[in-house]
Amino acid sequence: MKNSLEAINKRTEWFRESRFGMFIHWGLYSIPGKGEWIRSHQRLTVEEYEPYFESFNPTEYNPREWARQAKAAGMKYMVLTAKHHDGFCLFDSDYTEYKATNTPIGKDLVKEFVEAVREEGLKVGLYFSLIDWYHKDFPKYADLNHPMRGNEAYKDEKIDFDNYLTYLHNQVKEIVTKYGKIDILWFDYSYEEMVGEKWQATKLIEMVRHYQPDVIVDNRLETSGEGFGSIVTDDIQLYSGDFVSPEQIVPHEGIRNYKGDPVPWELCLTMNNNWAYNPTDYLYKSSKTLIRKLVECVSKNGNMILNVGPDALGQINSPSLAILNDFHEWMSRNGESIYGCVGAYDLPKPEWGYYTKKDNVIYAHVFEQPIGPIALPGLKEEEIKRMSFLHDGSEVKISKSWTTNAFPDMCFAQFGEIPHFTYPLPCDVDSVIKIELRGDKNEN
Ligand code: GLC
Repeated sequence: MKNSLEAINKRTEWFRESRFGMFIHWGLYSIPGKGEWIRSHQRLTVEEYEPYFESFNPTEYNPREWARQAKAAGMKYMVLTAKHHDGFCLFDSDYTEYKATNTPIGKDLVKEFVEAVREEGLKVGLYFSLIDWYHKDFPKYADLNHPMRGNEAYKDEKIDFDNYLTYLHNQVKEIVTKYGKIDILWFDYSYEEMVGEKWQATKLIEMVRHYQPDVIVDNRLETSGEGFGSIVTDDIQLYSGDFVSPEQIVPHEGIRNYKGDPVPWELCLTMNNNWAYNPTDYLYKSSKTLIRKLVECVSKNGNMILNVGPDALGQINSPSLAILNDFHEWMSRNGESIYGCVGAYDLPKPEWGYYTKKDNVIYAHVFEQPIGPIALPGLKEEEIKRMSFLHDGSEVKISKSWTTNAFPDMCFAQFGEIPHFTYPLPCDVDSVIKIELRGDKNEN
């Protein structure tokens, strides 16, 4: 049995329609506040990391509030780190003691999360690490990332990797059977020889699909943010996943398979430079940049999942909330140009921003202030039925002016009364002109 692009496209219909989601990296590592790789980076032993397990008590955890914040920002799905590389489980697994129910908080945090997300009407996803730095049978000495890599004490250690695989499969089974319908399963990640069948990926995906036939899976049973996997080839494996997961980079031309057909993809992106909480990382991207990157993803047929790293108590910090609020402002007025939209590949890329489109409507996302009228490359006056600003419905006129006469093949729009005047764009982030076309020229 193989996966196929038809099956992928069918499964990902709601996902491609949604375009925008929230990633949440949260766990024991939120206490030291130096990112989720702290155990690996600082080569901490289990014992050195243990104080965080003993003190994990996120009393402000309120997933309903997270879900409200995500929804207000225009996000349609949320993905939480049920287990990250440190092996600590936010869910109540029967196969380990290393879980939230055994910490001071004493609760199954995943259960509360999935319920809260569903109650807000969003789709729910869980991130699950294939890597496990806590399990005794996961490779250590020669592993690329393990906190105990290169540590002589582990050099001759015998591990039973099959035992680890049994554990991995059992836990994934818990994730897909104990929490109702899961919409996204976000595995992370494969590297070197730790890839594909090394995880018994066919068996794993057969089990996952048995319990959750519609779940959307990422491509990291085969790869990491550094690759695409077999989803772009003519030999798509059963465990290829349903979307490519570029990390911290927008693919400059979107992602297509070997035939040039578009393949679903999702940019995963941090607000600052850390996934998990890091109170000293002040390098936040501006809301303007982040909103524009969402537009760019959609213009290239992609999604964007934007990350927050709640703190040790379970709160989303104020710089992140401010960004979410700016998304709210923009998305509540301009979301129509994002949801269900695709790239306008039949039109040239405009210099002032991007086009997105849906059926017979083109959305011109104008980032850069034009001088006088604005050129609409690829569009003809006779094709245009009506133009308006999306945020307030006000009319945008086709421009006829002596300044445009020298360019008879180009259609121009103007924002105010006098054609050759320059009028400031209404929105500094992205002013969207909704261009309704006659006929069906722009059907894909
Ligand atoms: C990476 C990192 C990880 C993060 C993930 C999100 O592969 O290992 O810490 O969770 O990307 O995409």
